[in-house]
Amino acid sequence: MEAKLNIILEEAQESLKNISSRAEYETFKARLMGPRGSFTECGKGIGKLPKHERPIIGKHINIIKKELELIFKQTLERIQGIELNQSLGTGIDPTLPSPDISSGTHHILSQVRREICSIFHKVGFTVAEGPEVETEFYCFDALNTPPDHPARDAQDTYYLPQSFKSGNLSRREDERYVLRTHTSTVQVRTLLAENPPLRIISPGRCFRRDTMDATHCANFAQIEGLYVDKNVTVKDLKAILDYFSRALLGEKARTRFRPHFFPYTEPSFEVDFYSAHLEKVGTEWIEVMGCGMIDPSLFEAVEYNPKEWTGYAFGMGLERIAMILYGVDDVRYFYQNDLRFLKQFL
Ligand code: DAH
Repeated sequence: MEAKLNIILEEAQESLKNISSRAEYETFKARLMGPRGSFTECGKGIGKLPKHERPIIGKHINIIKKELELIFKQTLERIQGIELNQSLGTGIDPTLPSPDISSGTHHILSQVRREICSIFHKVGFTVAEGPEVETEFYCFDALNTPPDHPARDAQDTYYLPQSFKSGNLSRREDERYVLRTHTSTVQVRTLLAENPPLRIISPGRCFRRDTMDATHCANFAQIEGLYVDKNVTVKDLKAILDYFSRALLGEKARTRFRPHFFPYTEPSFEVDFYSAHLEKVGTEWIEVMGCGMIDPSLFEAVEYNPKEWTGYAFGMGLERIAMILYGVDDVRYFYQNDLRFLKQFL
């Protein structure tokens, strides 16, 4: 019996050296230590031995058992090490810092929005925000846009169902809700919430019932500017937009004002940028925004005295600015999430 036990131990020592997978390990362990295993059988055989031999063999069994447990434990640890290496991949040193994985970045429209905000921030403008779901009052009425104005047509504006109510947005019970068609709504909200003088810039998402094509998108972004103080003139408006175009496009950039009409500014202008040195922009004047001096009717709608307060406002499309800056010729690229496009702006 003693010899048999020694052979089992020797066999285990030899075999375990060559075992490198958990399956092999388990099979081999069962062959020795399982219910019908060779080592287990030795233990069972003790009862059949003459009485005086039993303590000696019993002691020997215990010694062998300890040995076996030790080498099984060592083998298992070795196999776990192999498994860890396999799960990490070959040749990996887990103590080294992680290899560089490409890090994400802001979407190009966010980058441009941040740049525009920072240009205005430098001259004292702070960011103001407003809700995307608006009432007709903030989107149209307060902005001197009468009920029969084409912009209010359901062809152009998304109206929410009559049943929609949001107590903290509306000022009247019977108001209808829209998805804001421009960020000029924030002018009204800010004028009502704050005290002049005011100097805000307001970026945000807008919605119009446009069919998508290279230059239209039902969901787009605008940036609004508003300045209210005493004795503000068109000269101040021209100066700020000249500063903006140069900060954005470089010192050689120029601006041009063309007379236009907006219900909430008087006089009103459309602004073109020109920057011959920017190849992508081309050598033509490009229309970039609307602007003007705050119309007295807007001051009246928010209960400011138009004889006391003056101001200017402007609004531009964010996609349009990004298209000019980077020579993008189709607005749809911004919303398709195609990495081949987005990765150009890392
Ligand atoms: N709200 C105008 C639009 O969506 C843009 C605009 C024009 C904003 C004149 C203004 C402004 O603040 O004064 O086309």
